[in-house]
Amino acid sequence: MSAKENRIQPAAPKPMIIVAIDGPAGAGKSTVARCLARHFGLLNLETGAMYRAFALKALRAGLALDKSSELERITAETSIRLEPGEDENRVLLDGEDVTGLIRNPLVTEAASRVSVFPKIRAWMVGLQQQLGAQGGVVMEGRDIGTVVFPQAEVKIFLDAAPEVRGQRRYDQLGGQSSAAAPPREEIIRDLRARDERDRNRADSPLKPAADAVLLDSTNLTLDQAVTEAVRIVSDKLRYAGLAF
Ligand code: DC
Repeated sequence: MSAKENRIQPAAPKPMIIVAIDGPAGAGKSTVARCLARHFGLLNLETGAMYRAFALKALRAGLALDKSSELERITAETSIRLEPGEDENRVLLDGEDVTGLIRNPLVTEAASRVSVFPKIRAWMVGLQQQLGAQGGVVMEGRDIGTVVFPQAEVKIFLDAAPEVRGQRRYDQLGGQSSAAAPPREEIIRDLRARDERDRNRADSPLKPAADAVLLDSTNLTLDQAVTEAVRIVSDKLRYAGLAF
């Protein structure tokens, strides 16, 4: 074997790109972001989990969720960290693993309420920009392509009809076979209420960035949405001369 062949070949360097995935609840963002991160060897960061962790802290402290000044007071003493996990991020709130505590309806509703306040958002955006500063990430949320990383190399806005998103949530919760699952109509109603708040808040409302690719998953399975998202990212990278 020649000296050249004997040398350990370094892995091909991966571009430190940022892929922004935005869209409403239940559109399939988490699945798509997770699969994209695996496919392209990137880190998957779920920013909604950060708002959820902060909402949990506010609930535990008994704060009024409609008073920005009360919420702002605790930001200075709050640490929120995301660690990549196999399926979802591990979420550390002041060092405590709260991953299993932030997906219930109470925290879901509270996260949507605390995230309307500009000062809370500015603080969160700063944290998220630090997390993604090195690149090499798929970051998922509502304002990643518009506010957190407007310079992201790839932006996908993933959407689906509310009835379809509600049905997916219902199925995830076990559907008819689960006594714990709320009725489908209740899930769709809550989803619409959250959409309304996310899309109409004054600061950083949920909307596609002007240069985002729109991906409507209403008539797609989640597998098909993932395949389409991989194609979108690959095309963008090839076009930018960054194909890996
Ligand atoms: O993605 P999710 O459902 O876990 O997000 C929870 C809430 O956090 C959602 O109602 C809106 C808010 N959020 C936000 O305002 N901006 C983000 N980048 C991510 C989430």
